[in-house]
Amino acid sequence: MSSSRRLVLSRSATLIAAASTGLLLPEIVRAQGAKVRIGLMLPYTGTFAQLGVAIENGLRLAIDEQGGKLGGREIEWFKVDDESDPSKGVENATKLVQRDKVDVIIGTVHSGVQMGIHKVARDTGVLTLIPNAGVHAATRALCAPNVFRTSFTNSQPTLALGKVLVDKGLKKAVWITWKYAAGDEAFEGFKESYTKAGGTIVKELGLPFPNVEFQALLTEIAAIKPDVVVCFFAGGGAAKFIKDYAAAGLKGKIPLYGSGFLTEGVLDAAGPAADGIVTTMHYSDSLDTARNKKFRLDYAKTYKSQPDVYAVQGYDTGLLLIQGANAVKGDLNAKPALYKAMEGAVIDSPRGKWTMSKAHNPVQDIYLRVVENKENKVIGVAAKALSDSGAGCKMG
Ligand code: PHB
Repeated sequence: MSSSRRLVLSRSATLIAAASTGLLLPEIVRAQGAKVRIGLMLPYTGTFAQLGVAIENGLRLAIDEQGGKLGGREIEWFKVDDESDPSKGVENATKLVQRDKVDVIIGTVHSGVQMGIHKVARDTGVLTLIPNAGVHAATRALCAPNVFRTSFTNSQPTLALGKVLVDKGLKKAVWITWKYAAGDEAFEGFKESYTKAGGTIVKELGLPFPNVEFQALLTEIAAIKPDVVVCFFAGGGAAKFIKDYAAAGLKGKIPLYGSGFLTEGVLDAAGPAADGIVTTMHYSDSLDTARNKKFRLDYAKTYKSQPDVYAVQGYDTGLLLIQGANAVKGDLNAKPALYKAMEGAVIDSPRGKWTMSKAHNPVQDIYLRVVENKENKVIGVAAKALSDSGAGCKMG
């Protein structure tokens, strides 16, 4: 007999015995006292490795502020490096659910991998919190009651960008990105806002994720001479793009704008090449609030590094999970009550307070920022309480 089968049998024997002696309640209470099993599925290698680490750091900071517990229960952690490899998404998420029996999956960064997690989340009903990946479908047509996003949709930051450019007289743009869901959907947001404001996209350029051979494309941009270059890149690839852009002699000639991920977590690596880059994003290092300052100080003390938007998203994932778990006193199986608490949560985030849309995606302010001395400095609010359309989602 397999040991797990033996365990089930002996458990049910205990239950029967407990029931017959009127001791069923303590047995249930004991089960409740078991550790919460949290599965982290994040990139720990490759171009998004630093993003995965920042998310985990932020998450653990939030939970450590609660004494390391969730709804009064201790936590057991399970970790998978998803390598930002979409072909392994379903397999890795299945491991967490079937082998590790996690109560919740927290993941991930890459939109393609997210679709693998999302399939498993929808098939099994396991509670899933998305701390980054912006793929539209997760909170649009394929939205699900057990899936909550604490970050953004891919088009949210760039929807706030188009008008800013046209207002500055930058009316002819070249768009450049990695060709996969995140880049394509960021482009959707940019195109919609830019063309509506009267701008023209003169060329769309792309390369496969996570390729960083930018040279030929930069040569092409120099020949086109647009008013502005707008992009989506992130992580290690973003740092290289910023440096290559300057090395190609384009910095100072054609202004570089982007979805704010371009300048997140890369400012030490990119150095002065990043100065002056303007982006839109739901966070800025320099937000002048007591909440943000305390968070930045605590994070820096704990991890000896500066937090970025990914750290904030990880932290907010912790805050959301804590609010949900507290509402059900740690019983994550009390799903209707748990989901209701998470849907109604107001997250007091370092980025500013945000709420959950009906499709389970943040309704949040988008800031306009410029890089100065290795910091994303806020220079305005590009969109107030911006909600994703949630198109095709039937919840709520
Ligand atoms: C994504 O693949 O959804 C993604 C990855 C990195 C980012 C933003 C979005 O910084």
